[in-house]
Amino acid sequence: MTILVTGGAGYIGSHFIRLLENKKKDFVIVDNLSTGHEKFIKDKKFINVDLKDKENLKKLLNDYNFSSIVHFAGLSIVKDSQSLAENYYENNVIGSKNIVEIALEKNIRHFIFSSSAAVYGNPEEESIKESHPTKPINNYGKNKLQVENLLKQVSQEYPLDVVCLRYFNAAGADKKGDLGELRDPETHLIPNIIKKAISKDTLEVFGNNFKTPDGTCIRDYIHVSDLAEAHAKALEFLTENKGFHVFNLGNERGFSNLEIINTAQEVLKLKINYRIQEPREGDPAKLIADSTRAKNLLKWTQSKTDIKEMILSAYQFYQNEKI
Ligand code: UFG
Repeated sequence: MTILVTGGAGYIGSHFIRLLENKKKDFVIVDNLSTGHEKFIKDKKFINVDLKDKENLKKLLNDYNFSSIVHFAGLSIVKDSQSLAENYYENNVIGSKNIVEIALEKNIRHFIFSSSAAVYGNPEEESIKESHPTKPINNYGKNKLQVENLLKQVSQEYPLDVVCLRYFNAAGADKKGDLGELRDPETHLIPNIIKKAISKDTLEVFGNNFKTPDGTCIRDYIHVSDLAEAHAKALEFLTENKGFHVFNLGNERGFSNLEIINTAQEVLKLKINYRIQEPREGDPAKLIADSTRAKNLLKWTQSKTDIKEMILSAYQFYQNEKI
């Protein structure tokens, strides 16, 4: 019952690996370490290979029998997906196609895919259900949707059962403080706030003219450990449910960028200087999940819904990182 985890050295993938270890499950990590961190997977079963390199991937996985694949690997910076469209397509679509083909060749029956709220584009309703139209406004979201569509088609023609998990904004860090969000350069709001608060540099806030109460974008933040738990629930779900399934994973509550800055100032007790910049290309004004389906069908419950706890745990990780 070995689980193949692609992207296990990344932010969300490494939290899922921690969960598998706690549950005493067997796994093998595949990662090319392009954005993942070797220190997150030290002493764990790990194969360093690029998903784009199908021949090598196949060869290196030849000796293993897997019950399921949890596919996290991919590039995830919305802005880069606009300027590096081809690179994003190759990594996120071709890489995914390769791992799906390997699933079929190796008779693996269960597949969990890290999808994204970015597949929806600009929301047409207050909170987003899975039935909401999918009209991505950036290449990142388009590529996620292309992979979802591929998986849907494959699940209709082959004995591969699929869950696509559409994440809203992952935040926070494991309570041990040794795993977390780490990019260079940093692009995401909460880690950037923490960095700027400590360095006393000025945070750039991208746009304040969106159609939201304070004009800044609104996002739904979900604790990364709760996200990891949803993958374990999705694997359980597939033991009893065939076919293709999609679930939103969010906290069903939105915070504007300015609200996040103010909350961070309060919990970190640090002053955060910011200035308003032009909006970033491909940013929807507001993304809030309706996660009723995941709660009902996956029997998933979040245990860390407090935004302050998410910011604090991210801060703790950042502090440990500097030691
Ligand atoms: N932002 C700033 N300044 C920064 C960083 C971010 O103002 O220094 C703003 C962004 O413009 C956006 C908000 O903060 O309005 C959140 O931005 P993030 O980069 O933290 O996250 P995104 O919402 O762009 O994207 C994340 C993931 C995607 C996923 C999406 C789904 O990176 O993979 O959430 O909601 F698709």
